[in-house]
Formats: sequence, C-alpha cells, structure tokens
Amino acid sequence: MVKDFIDTNEFTKEELLDIIDLSLAIKKAIKAGYNPPLLRGKTLGMIFQQSSTRTRVSFETAMEQLGGHAQYLGPGMIQLGGHETIGDTGKVLSQLIDIVMARVIEHKTVVDLANACTIPVINGMSDYNHPTQEIGDMCTIVENLPRGKKLEDCKVVFVGDGTQVCASLGFITTKLGMHFVHYGPEGHQLNEDHKAILEANCKVSGGTWEVTDNRDSVKGADFIYTDVWYGLYENEMPKEERVRVFHDYQVNRELMQLGNIGCKFMHCLPATRGEDVTDEVADSDASLCWDEAGNRLTAMRGLLVYFMRNAEKHSELEIKAAKEQLDKFLETRLGMDTNY
Ligand code: CP
Repeated sequence: MVKDFIDTNEFTKEELLDIIDLSLAIKKAIKAGYNPPLLRGKTLGMIFQQSSTRTRVSFETAMEQLGGHAQYLGPGMIQLGGHETIGDTGKVLSQLIDIVMARVIEHKTVVDLANACTIPVINGMSDYNHPTQEIGDMCTIVENLPRGKKLEDCKVVFVGDGTQVCASLGFITTKLGMHFVHYGPEGHQLNEDHKAILEANCKVSGGTWEVTDNRDSVKGADFIYTDVWYGLYENEMPKEERVRVFHDYQVNRELMQLGNIGCKFMHCLPATRGEDVTDEVADSDASLCWDEAGNRLTAMRGLLVYFMRNAEKHSELEIKAAKEQLDKFLETRLGMDTNY
C-alpha cells in the first residue's frame, strides 16, 4: 500500500476511482446531515511554503467536519527551511501528529518529507504537480458528465500554459482512460517527461493524449480547462510578456464555441480575469469553476479518510481499560476527582 499521496501516477485507475467515489460518498452523507467522525482525535499538520485559499481552507474544514483538528504551519512558522533539515522535521512531526499536508516550492521537498515521515504525507501542490486538485476536478467531472457519456468517452482540453495543474490534469485523465489535449504555445507546452507519462498511462487505460498549438484540437471538447498564464508567486512573467505569448489562448466565448454543445469550462483558480479567462465565460452557466472550488473540500475529506484508514484504532474494551488505569493513578497519586 502506498503510504503517501505525492503523485497520482503511483496509483492504479481502480485505486484512484476508490478515492473519487469515497470522496463523493462522504459528500453525500454530509449533505444529508451526517458528519461521519472518521478522523476523531486525529491531527493534520498543514505546511505551506506558499499562500493558498482553497487548499488551506478545504483541508482545515475537512478535518473539523470529520471530528479531527488541523494545525496551520505557514511560511516562516516552523523550523523547516531554517536550521532544521527536512528529514528531522519529518521525524519530529511523525511523533506529534497523525498526517501531514505540504504545499512546497520544489517537488523534491515533499518527496523528501514523505520519505522522512512515518505518517502519511499529502502533496498540497509543488512545482511539478497538484494531485489534490486532480481528485477534486475528477469529482466535478463525474458530477457533470455529458448526457449518455462515461468518463472514457470524454475529451478534456487544457488551454494555455503547461503549468503543474495542466500536467496533473493530463496525468489523471489519461490514467482514467479519457482523451486529453494540451493546446498551448510552443515553449510553454508539457515537456518530453510529461509526454512519456501520458503515453504510458494511455497504453494501460486506452485513453489518448495530444500536445499541440493547433487550435482545431479544441474541437469536440466536453471540458475546457485553463490556469493562469506563466506562473504565480516569484516566477511571474511581466504582464505585457504573458499577454504577447498567450493572447490566442484566452478562454473566451469564441474558444468555448469550438467545444461540443454543452461543453463546460473549468479553472483551478485563482484566475486572472481578462487574461486566461473572460468574465463572460467564468460567470456563465457553463462554468464549473465554483463547483471545483467546492469539490476541493470533497476531495480533501476523501483523501484524509483514505490515507488514515489503517491508522491505529482501539476497541471500546481497550479504551475502557485505559481510562480505568489512568483514573486510578489520578485518584491515588494526585487525589483528583475523576468525574471529568
Ligand atoms: N487551486 C488552488 O490550489 O488554490 P489555492 O492556491 O488557493 O490553494
């Protein structure tokens, strides 16, 4: 069993469908009024080397809804990156909490952290991929399948910059046997390593992939997806430069019309309105970007339960015996009232 959730390519199609279906089953239960206490008494540590709205809020809410607790360990708040090594941080956190989530600048950081931790580690986005976004997006696609189609019948086109979200969308769609296209300008397309993974996934799943700057590749899309142009954070390209490179790749009404009738728009958010997507599309009936944001919570609940499913559990009998032993100590040694 894989201990950590670092890269969906480490999982089979069936395992990923288990996580997606589990996420949707918990969503249904909570919507119907039942918050299952599946993480009662458990603590999640959330390491953020970069800022976040969706990932941070959804993980924290998920822990609370399932009976657990989350600690926010934001940029500069812990020793990681200072004197303490990743290895030592991982060993220490494994003694103090039950599961870790890390949003990191470099992918190697989350891989090294997972290797050092004896508890599960979830990748909350790196410069290579964004696997929790993948699970949430697949929940959204499953909930919005075109009438009469199953996943394997759907074409998903990512438009614009070959970001880590683009790579991630390619990874999961090809894993699940779907038809993936990256339509983006030369120099900003998925690279040869990405393509090798897409090819390997499709060989197993029967899906297809294409990376191209040919606008005709958008035709027949069931889902059109985009992300910000050239980086967030410290890597951001100047505005004039990104508009020059990507202006043909804006998701606007004309581009949406290349998709199938009923084609949906997707965006991981945050969006740069007026650049990667127009207001008209982002706020249209075809837009699923708000559902995607909501399904980050759906995915986090499913992922937390899935990766904590083998955590140590105690029978009622064991809990009763442990309480009796502690109460005896409190009464006899400290004279304490044990009606707490
Ligand atoms: N999509 C996403 O990961 O959003 P945040 O950066 O706000 O977490």
